[in-house]
Amino acid sequence: MNDEPLDPLQAVSAPDPYAYYRRLRERQPFYFDESVRMWVASSAAVVEALLADDNFTVRPAGQPVPPALAGSAAGELFGRLVRMNEGPAHAAARPALGAVLGGWEPATAAAIAQREARAALKSPGRRVELLHRVPLLAVAELLGVPSSRRLHVAAQVDVFVACLSPQNNAVPLEAAATAAGELTALFGEGLGRWAPVQAAALTPEVFAANLAGLLVQTCDASAGLVGNCLVALAREPEVLADLQGARLDVGAFVAEVARHDPAIQNTRRHAARATSVAGARLQAGEAVLLLLAAANRDPACGEAAEGFDPRRPAHGFGFGSGRHRCPGEALARAVAGGVVLACLEQVDAWLPSARRFLAAPVYRNSVNARIPRFDLPVPAGTAAAALSPTTH
Ligand code: HEM
Repeated sequence: MNDEPLDPLQAVSAPDPYAYYRRLRERQPFYFDESVRMWVASSAAVVEALLADDNFTVRPAGQPVPPALAGSAAGELFGRLVRMNEGPAHAAARPALGAVLGGWEPATAAAIAQREARAALKSPGRRVELLHRVPLLAVAELLGVPSSRRLHVAAQVDVFVACLSPQNNAVPLEAAATAAGELTALFGEGLGRWAPVQAAALTPEVFAANLAGLLVQTCDASAGLVGNCLVALAREPEVLADLQGARLDVGAFVAEVARHDPAIQNTRRHAARATSVAGARLQAGEAVLLLLAAANRDPACGEAAEGFDPRRPAHGFGFGSGRHRCPGEALARAVAGGVVLACLEQVDAWLPSARRFLAAPVYRNSVNARIPRFDLPVPAGTAAAALSPTTH
């Protein structure tokens, strides 16, 4: 049977897209793909150059918010996110978020995630929460969300995120608008605690939206990182044994998973004006799909890049590059590391299902996030868990 993905969007949830990515990188590192109607970049050099190029923006010109969300509270939240802005709006929000994120010790984040993961591992019905719930609960706790509200907040983030997916046919816009309104109000109420880091250039509404945005950014990206870590542990028994015997650092393992099988497989850019890329002429408005996962295995980035080696230095594009590079990378790695530590304590609770997954891998339906579906039920209140966002 030929498992080759039909196009670079289907590759995201293919059982193994990496031979396909390699062929693209070797044969056509930058080309126009008729099936997805976008230019596609797959080599490290082209991806890195595009992410640094001011001729390209994160949103299409004249469309700061997807048309389906325009005019709703969900659209308002979306349009305020640092991830979706360029120029002064981006430059004002990024340092404030950097200060929030920089105030959290990775060791504290890891300890919270480990505690939450231990609790989830105790009950078979809650193990699926390792991917989707635990990272959100950890970041919500760091953000100061009271414990009584964390589960509800995590469910609201799921609803908002699901509504952003182009594949969404389960979550009505009204539900996402309610979720967005609640999240913005929650963080608006608690803004006082962030007064020392709130930049003067940011309105309280934009700052509150971006605090909620930290949960939005955590959601599926962290589910993918945690899930792909468990898949790697099931696939690499020697690595699992080395981690259990403390002969390998958990942080190094997580970093290699983020390179080798990244949670966010691609991102998009839009030409703000006519420009050239790798010898091709692009018109204003044309879109480019940047295959971060393909670039991560470019031999130009390091030896034997197709292989899994947690002892290699961390590198790659799994957390982006350039002015929109993920400011949550250290946090995301710490949270995933905490979950992995808890999983190493209770291997029998998850390894059998991760092994069954390896025999017949199925990934959630998404255009950019690679999240394994273990043979576990989807958590209650996550109607949207089979969908994925395009926020990352
Ligand atoms: C495994 C988890 C994560 C992965 C793989 C990931 C990956 C990425 C990537 C690839 C980008 C760049 C997108 C682009 O340039 O088009 C990005 C941006 C971003 N990430 Fe993450 N991320 C993760 C977790 C987090 C967490 C936990 C936070 C915060 C709590 C976060 C906050 C952000 C923000 C705010 C941006 C936008 C930055 C900007 O536009 O300047 N991410 N992330």
